[in-house]
Amino acid sequence: MPLGVFDSGVGGLTVVRALRAAFPRRDILYVGDTARVPYGNKSPETVTAYSREIIHFLKAKGADRIVAACNTASALAVRSLQGAVGVPLHGMIDSGVQAALAEAGEGPVGVIGTAATVSSGAYQEALSRARPGLKIVAQATPLLAPLVEEGWLDGEVTEKTVRRYLEPLMREKIRVLVLACTHYPLLKGVLGKVLGSEVKLVDSSEACAKSLQHTEDKIQEKGELRIYLTDEPGPFFGRVENFLGSGSVASIQRVSLDPAV
Ligand code: DGL
Repeated sequence: MPLGVFDSGVGGLTVVRALRAAFPRRDILYVGDTARVPYGNKSPETVTAYSREIIHFLKAKGADRIVAACNTASALAVRSLQGAVGVPLHGMIDSGVQAALAEAGEGPVGVIGTAATVSSGAYQEALSRARPGLKIVAQATPLLAPLVEEGWLDGEVTEKTVRRYLEPLMREKIRVLVLACTHYPLLKGVLGKVLGSEVKLVDSSEACAKSLQHTEDKIQEKGELRIYLTDEPGPFFGRVENFLGSGSVASIQRVSLDPAV
């Protein structure tokens, strides 16, 4: 049975990369909603409806477990859909929070993500619930995903943008920064340069793969990655495909989702 993974677009392939490293034998079905990306500026109702359609599609393709690789969908939709979709559904938040707390000491903890993720308060609440009194500094960083999609992973403009966004977090002397967006693992270099080596970066894609490890059996011979997109892949696809490693993708298909589910 394949593992289903979805995202608003192709950025969630960063999570697929971590999942494939953790479960090389698992087949993965990936849906990237390239027709409706970005989710990061949309309402909880809209993101929940989109997520439900994708989950329905993945279940119909045989997925027995589904990962919402999109942090925005994880923050806005996963909790309300868990238990209602008939298969185990995992988001990015709990694993990211656990990984952050393991490194946080007394804190403070920084969180960066899309406007929707940060304004939902999902990471902030989960961190506070797990460690009451912990200082959390959350910052919406909406320009970072477009910079990544453009391939501007370093250089003056990206560094200045990152520095401007991170200034309030650096003033608070964060110990840990949670990268609460699919795209940000690709910015680790510039984030590390701006923050310095004493701030630990928590990659939510790696944390998610690690937390799923106990749920998996070692059963299959060889895992394939099949990708379904709701629109053209766009130029960002080539960049994330490089990040995944060449020859990783078994097939790519354009699909329509059923809005009636
Ligand atoms: N995949 C989204 C996330 O991780 C970022 C892109 C978007 O806004 O849809 O939050």
